Amino acid sequence: MSIQPHGGQLIQRYEPLKDITKIQQEIDLDAISFSDLELIGVGAYSPIEGFLTKDDYESVVKNMRLSTGIVWSIPITLPVTEEKAATLKIGEQAKLLYDGEVYGTIDIADIYTPDKEKEATNVYGTSDEAHPGVKRLYSRPNTYVGGKITLIKKSPKQFPIYTFEPQETRALFEEKGWKTIVGFQTRNPVHRAHEYIQKTALEIVDGLFLNPLVGETKSDDIPASIRMESYEVLLDKYYPKERVQLGVFLAAMRYAGPREAIFHALVRKNYGCTHFIVGRDHAGVGNYYGTYEAQKLFDQFTPEEIGIQPLKFEHSFYCTECEGMATTKTCPHDEKSRIILSGTKVREMLRNGEVPPSTFSRKEVVEVLIRGLKQEVSI
Ligand code: ADX
Repeated sequence: MSIQPHGGQLIQRYEPLKDITKIQQEIDLDAISFSDLELIGVGAYSPIEGFLTKDDYESVVKNMRLSTGIVWSIPITLPVTEEKAATLKIGEQAKLLYDGEVYGTIDIADIYTPDKEKEATNVYGTSDEAHPGVKRLYSRPNTYVGGKITLIKKSPKQFPIYTFEPQETRALFEEKGWKTIVGFQTRNPVHRAHEYIQKTALEIVDGLFLNPLVGETKSDDIPASIRMESYEVLLDKYYPKERVQLGVFLAAMRYAGPREAIFHALVRKNYGCTHFIVGRDHAGVGNYYGTYEAQKLFDQFTPEEIGIQPLKFEHSFYCTECEGMATTKTCPHDEKSRIILSGTKVREMLRNGEVPPSTFSRKEVVEVLIRGLKQEVSI
């Protein structure tokens, strides 16, 4: 039997034949709420059934729980401008549009003004606008609309063969006979450190669900299309095919560190994972979070409340003395022996066509990245 979805039931709010002819109000979605709409509709965000109402929003911001008490760490919100809000009425429905097309509807249950500074401080741990998640939060309009959604149309897919809904991954894992599955979130190419912790996890579970995030990311992150190609070459050459499933995660990156780690874990539970990797500075950016702060946040909840088992990994690297991958937990040598490059440094090297050492990243991966980034620059 597969793992229970968060809250006990997989939410399904896809209704392609819903009659929307009488709905007059319209709300335009941005890229974040567009991906959230679909993820709510297919149950990836179970037990959430719509954009958060004020009660739920305030409870999530303050306590990391929905008003029912169920753990939820990231507010899923639908921001609209004050002018738009003035045209909407509680109790009515509105169509949800992206790029001029209707993808869903919302039963408007609430229209409210959030305290964004509080949201920033509590969710992101800072109100500094240099933080990309906070910047994005502040750049979105200042009124939130809450209420259950109906998904009417699914978005066009950039990676159709790697796009699965929670009910599909659950069926897929069952078909493969996997009873324990570790989920891996990433917004980066898979470097040796990532590979090491994935494979260490694979030693104790049946399967790996490599689930890169392909929604909105900050501009200097490596584009999803290039990353996908790098995952393909890596999996093809270095991973046992029957033990790995690649699938994309459509959500936007929030860079909310610890709180996003909890969110990432809960969502992977909905996709059917039993375990979830949380390494160093998960979903972090700059120096906003402590290296193991995300891991520690899991300890604030009981294992039953989270329901998916976090697998916590120390900072991993190649050690020239050990002659292999290791972590601060297993390697006794000092910094000089450790190949550690920051993400920013590696992106800079790749964009300049420089090759990071094979102790940092597989050569096949580096080739794809350099080629991809060159093409990107010349477009
Ligand atoms: S994230 O923003 O999606 O978390 P990234 O793709 O860098 O960023 O990381 C994916 C996962 O690997 C996260 O759980 C992160 O903590 C972990 N991780 C990344 N690099 C290392 C490393 N060198 N050692 C241990 N864990 C790492």
